[in-house]
Amino acid sequence: MVSTPEPLTAASPQAPPGAELRDQPSALDVIRSRRSISRLGPPAPSPADLATMLEAAACAPDHGSLRPWRFVILDGEAKDRFGPVLADATVRWERDGGREPDPRKVDKDRTKMDRAPLVVVVACEEQPNPKVPRHEQVAAAVAAAQNLCLAATALGYGSMWRTGPNAENPHVKVSLGLRPDDKIVAFVYLGTVSDEQAKPANAPSLDGLVRRWFPPER
Ligand SMILES: Cc1cc2nc3c(=O)[nH]c(=O)nc-3n(C[C@H](O)[C@H](O)[C@H](O)COP(=O)(O)O)c2cc1C
Repeated sequence: MVSTPEPLTAASPQAPPGAELRDQPSALDVIRSRRSISRLGPPAPSPADLATMLEAAACAPDHGSLRPWRFVILDGEAKDRFGPVLADATVRWERDGGREPDPRKVDKDRTKMDRAPLVVVVACEEQPNPKVPRHEQVAAAVAAAQNLCLAATALGYGSMWRTGPNAENPHVKVSLGLRPDDKIVAFVYLGTVSDEQAKPANAPSLDGLVRRWFPPER
């Protein structure tokens, strides 16, 4: 009897070095296939995968090694309870500014968290530093948010980066345990992509966006 050989996997004793990497998408494949998916379903990233994503986020370039990024995880019942907190924060912020809140916006806030089973809020908590200005620390947090989205893609999850007025609202920041002058750079929605929601890989055009510099003629 001829037995079918077992496929080589990283766990197999015969696997050559590096075999575990061969079936994985390259970094460029991941970058091209990351797409924003507005409705994500269960399952949410597992705790181990979420930890991997957050570690990837924390690998972002960081002038002065200040680690200005902060991550607030919203999942399970806490996430469900955050929608009404957003709605309440919108009402309060509008009234702070002497405006009457738009009931449609307030209703939208109440249900925003239904778009995905898990949301990571990425914020910049500026660290006092004479050499690294605020905008560079915000840039580091933005890079962390992008790493988070790419790591989610690499692990087979969908993501969508959102901001909007809630990211500026001091009541939202305080309710998340942030300081009013911290900068929320992203609400990253995370979950599983259904076949109906799947999108093709990005195929960006660089037309008119790139030029080569030449030194001026003397
Ligand atoms: C800083 C930032 C904030 C964003 N905020 C929103 C948002 O609030 N709502 C939204 O629909 N898209 C938002 N987007 C855009 C989407 O995340 C997404 O990138 C865009 O729709 C293009 O789709 P793609 O990522 O699949 O190429 C934001 C992107 C960035 C970088």
